[in-house]
Amino acid sequence: MEERPIEERLREVEQRAKQCTACHLATTRTQVVFGEGNPRSPLVLVGEGPGEQEDLTGRPFVGRAGALLDRALREAGIGRQHVYICNIIKCRAYTIENGRARNRPPNQEEILACAPWLDAQLTLIQPLVIVCLGGPAASVIIHKNFRIMQERGQWFTSRWAPAAIATLHPAYILRQAGPAFDKAYALLVDDLKAARARVIELKQQQRQQQPMPPPSEEQQLSLF
Ligand code: URA
Repeated sequence: MEERPIEERLREVEQRAKQCTACHLATTRTQVVFGEGNPRSPLVLVGEGPGEQEDLTGRPFVGRAGALLDRALREAGIGRQHVYICNIIKCRAYTIENGRARNRPPNQEEILACAPWLDAQLTLIQPLVIVCLGGPAASVIIHKNFRIMQERGQWFTSRWAPAAIATLHPAYILRQAGPAFDKAYALLVDDLKAARARVIELKQQQRQQQPMPPPSEEQQLSLF
């Protein structure tokens, strides 16, 4: 059994990830966006990949999609500082269109090249619940042919957690307008609330399964 605290072991993985050259995104990134938050959290959120702001700052979900996610987390009663947030790929994937960089979904080669980092993170953290933000994350965490519109909001098991759920990606929600935006945003909040409730339920189950500690001397004496 490894004795070093999880924080230290995760930092070590992060240091190695920062040197990664396993795919061509290493040549265009500004920074590796490894992930951040509480590594002892029972709840982990997994997104798709860094965008422009994330690439510049080295932190996940700090751009417009991040602001919407923060709002939804607050509304669902989840403190961002209490969870751990990362992505399936750690470097920004983009194309140049009309002289401007546009984010694009990661391809299979990039996802596979990055998989060891995600695996190391989730294996160390051992969350009770994983929330996948968008289809690409759900295809990695839940099952390969995940269909986000049909399967979001449902519970699955994952090799990294006893419970996993997928919700709409905040960037997708930002592309909706009017009532479509409201509806999509409400689904995100609902799914985050469901994740929070599931964490509470699983923690309660864990506590019930733990053997009762032997009574202290004081408790033993009070029996007489
Ligand atoms: N979108 C993601 O999927 N991840 C981020 O970190 C930011 C935007």
